[in-house]
Amino acid sequence: VFLGIDVGTQGLKGVVIDEMGTVLATETAEYPTATPKPGWSEQSPADWRRALDRVLAALVKGRPDFTFRGVGLTGQMHTTVVCDDQGQPLRSAILWSDQRTAPYVDALQQTYGLDTLLGITGNQPLTNFTLLRLLWMRDHQPELYREIRRVAVAKDWLRFILTGSWGSDVTDASGTYGFDVRRRTWAQDWLEQLNIPAAWWGSVAESHEIVGTVRYGPAGLQGVPLVAGAGDQEASAVGTGLRPGDLGLSLGTSGVLFWVLSQYQRPPHPSIHAFCHAETGQWHWMSVTQAAALSLRWFRDELDPGATYQAINDEAATVEAGSDGLLYWPYLNGERAPILRPEARGGFLGLTLTHRRAHLARAVLEGVAYSLKHSFVTMNESGGVNPRRWVMTGGGAQSALWGDIVASVFNQPVDLAHDPGAAVGAAWLARNAVLNQSDRYPLTVHAVATPRSDWVATYEDGFAGYLKGIEQIIPLWE
Ligand code: XUL
Repeated sequence: VFLGIDVGTQGLKGVVIDEMGTVLATETAEYPTATPKPGWSEQSPADWRRALDRVLAALVKGRPDFTFRGVGLTGQMHTTVVCDDQGQPLRSAILWSDQRTAPYVDALQQTYGLDTLLGITGNQPLTNFTLLRLLWMRDHQPELYREIRRVAVAKDWLRFILTGSWGSDVTDASGTYGFDVRRRTWAQDWLEQLNIPAAWWGSVAESHEIVGTVRYGPAGLQGVPLVAGAGDQEASAVGTGLRPGDLGLSLGTSGVLFWVLSQYQRPPHPSIHAFCHAETGQWHWMSVTQAAALSLRWFRDELDPGATYQAINDEAATVEAGSDGLLYWPYLNGERAPILRPEARGGFLGLTLTHRRAHLARAVLEGVAYSLKHSFVTMNESGGVNPRRWVMTGGGAQSALWGDIVASVFNQPVDLAHDPGAAVGAAWLARNAVLNQSDRYPLTVHAVATPRSDWVATYEDGFAGYLKGIEQIIPLWE
């Protein structure tokens, strides 16, 4: 069997699959996120390690039939851990969604110019990228900065714990802003210019390369080979079996559009990333909205405490498409794509006395779908993104109503896939490496959402209102 570990935003998930990709066991352990200031998000690497211990113990306990043959890691991308030379974290990890580095995006652009930056890294700078967090620490925590000897994303720190080997893979390296995405190697000259040693990240490998053997945790895992793995978005795409020509729509915490490329292509818009894919010789464009299913979680926690997502969906389904004119913008965590505005704030607009909680719930589902469409229109600004197939995954794809809303907003049939998730993708990378194969994960589509003819026109108007609203409210954030 093969083990995939996903150090996610809400918690750590371990999944055991067999050679066919069938999930045999799953365990999760949650950990908290601290928000020391608005727009800031941090986690403790020690919490990840405790979650890892719990998940590994639970997966192995009582399963003498499991013979582990390979391990693959994945996790939240960009989440930055800085360490001393022993790999001990020097401070809490700065999360992928943290927006404190906004001034550094402007500073980099002003100093170097966008074209130069694109030429070096293949991408435009973003608040989320590791390098900008390092620049922030250099200015705001200079003593701590002087102690830094190693830098990792969450999964690569756990790789060190598990195997003692320090390094990253091409997908997570793409999200550091110290990497030449086109050539799949560290941007040495660029890093030297900034006085940041590439050695802090260690070596970089393709996602399926074996980079160590496990020497931590339960006896059954000792000596098992571990592959470099991938960021959660790329690992999910592996788990979804996406091919060039498929458009992945992931409705997880964040909302992601994922478009596979067989060669590097410049991102069509500053908010779109062009990263290496976990499949050798492939790249991808990706548009990440900050609060997709997170919007619904916020709704549940604040407006409908204790409700199940099914109950919220059922309630939302009692309201007509268009939520009686109520619009929602999902910028609860600032926004990254397609509007690159860390200072953005979410909101409802159009409330009247007739609106009930059910309208708010439906408006959240619709607003997230509009935001995905906004990303798609932006990604396809210069044409060429003509999906053969639309595949929706993530927690959102388990909601038939959300699927129908997305299909109707896009006016496209959308495959709703069982959520294999990033951990399965990581396990699959390990499986392919150990068996020396390059098979695609067999995707299970559990339903196809088709556009509802009576909703499509309503959603065209709704989307127009959504875009107009953005223009109107942008001045409020300036
Ligand atoms: C991808 C990104 C997020 C995190 C979520 O660039 O920042 O999707 O990977 O875990």
